[in-house]
Amino acid sequence: MLSNQAGDGKRSSLHGHWSSRMAFVLAVTGSAVGLGNIWKFPYIAGQNGGGAFVLVYLACVVLIGMPVMMSEILIGRRGRRNPVRTMQILGEEEGGSRRWGWVGGMGVIAGIFILSYYSVIAGWTLAYIVKSVSGVFVGATAEVVGAEFENYVGDWRKVGLTHTIFMALSVYVVARGVERGLEQAVRFMVPALLVLMLVLLVYSINSGYFGQGVAFMFTPDFEKLTQDSVLAALGQAFFTLSIGMGAIMAYGAYLPEETSITGASAAVVAADTAIAILAGLAIFPLVFANGLTPADGPGLVFNTLPMAFGQMQGGVFLSTIFFVLLSFAAWTSAIGLMEPAVAWIVERFNKTRAQATVMIGLLIWLLGFGTVLSFNKLSETRFLAGTIFNNVDYLTSNIMLPLGGLLIVWFAGWVMCRNSTSDELGNTGKIFKVWHLAARFLAPVGILFVLLNAVGLIEWIRDRLA
Ligand code: PFF
Repeated sequence: MLSNQAGDGKRSSLHGHWSSRMAFVLAVTGSAVGLGNIWKFPYIAGQNGGGAFVLVYLACVVLIGMPVMMSEILIGRRGRRNPVRTMQILGEEEGGSRRWGWVGGMGVIAGIFILSYYSVIAGWTLAYIVKSVSGVFVGATAEVVGAEFENYVGDWRKVGLTHTIFMALSVYVVARGVERGLEQAVRFMVPALLVLMLVLLVYSINSGYFGQGVAFMFTPDFEKLTQDSVLAALGQAFFTLSIGMGAIMAYGAYLPEETSITGASAAVVAADTAIAILAGLAIFPLVFANGLTPADGPGLVFNTLPMAFGQMQGGVFLSTIFFVLLSFAAWTSAIGLMEPAVAWIVERFNKTRAQATVMIGLLIWLLGFGTVLSFNKLSETRFLAGTIFNNVDYLTSNIMLPLGGLLIVWFAGWVMCRNSTSDELGNTGKIFKVWHLAARFLAPVGILFVLLNAVGLIEWIRDRLA
């Protein structure tokens, strides 16, 4: 049995530890790389006008995402419990208050909400494996591919079924625990996904529209940048890195003492960003080549890539592999989304891992029907940000994750004492100083500014002062 205290007086996790540094990096990469990179990034960039959005997104990843990720891992490793308990314990120990546990609680809820729609979209990728195998995309035109998508998402029973299958798969892995299965899946998946993105990139380069795609992604037109798109860029940075909701904190709890947090974070951020940019470079030329619009929304990837595969030699095979890999990527992310809630239930209510996973899985599955119906029966039901799906997405990515990230980085920078954080980051040199400055000033100020701007507060204050 694992003990609560390691020999040096530090806590050890109740759920086991990663077998190596590589295992941790792979697991966090698996959580980061997912639908956010390949499905979401291109369509959000498309809806927000391209270039300027991409620039703000990259700035958010490096200047805010990186320090938040390091904070989350170090808090997780220091506390070695589920995110709620970890924040409570450290809140008390570091002279703050137990109430910091609420930050973990918000993360648990964010994970549940995010997975409720994530699983539906992951279900789409499962359906697209079957469609690819059946050969419907061979030589298909934009109209055929578009009609195929509409037919499928328009039928709530089909989408409900694939959502159910995906949730069942996620519950299955999470119930089995941290070490088994997960590492193996990621070890093979991320490199394979990179290779397939490169194949698509070569195809895009030859499409005749590559220049237009690159220009759309990298020519910043700041006219198109609204306050809301800056918030969307920040939200996307948090979403794609899996930060702001305790998932990385939960993973950090299983991290061996000697692993470098900075090195691991940098590796994950680099891999995640590379895959998103590659996805954009592969997709936008195809959007232009086929007379589609970048702002088409959540169907963008499903309406472009099958067409590209349909025109390639060996397209059936490549398309199948692609959607299999994308499903894997979604799967390893779903595990991260459930981990805070499951670890919390196991520790708080003394349930077995399997019981906790089934309970949380059922709840998420039920909530998921809000998103299932958003694309068919309830597609006309709109309020606040749009459909039910739009609202869950907006609330989680644009509000809960940035707010969670703000509180986490604030806690690491201002509440935790310098000795604890430098002990975790393993040095007192330059890297620590840079992180500390970023965690105290750059990241919190950046997040606050974007959040307040989006609700119009900065403008309001400016008007008062004018
Ligand atoms: N980072 C994942 C993606 O880009 O698809 C989504 C995600 C996974 C967010 C896990 C949060 C999380 F805890």
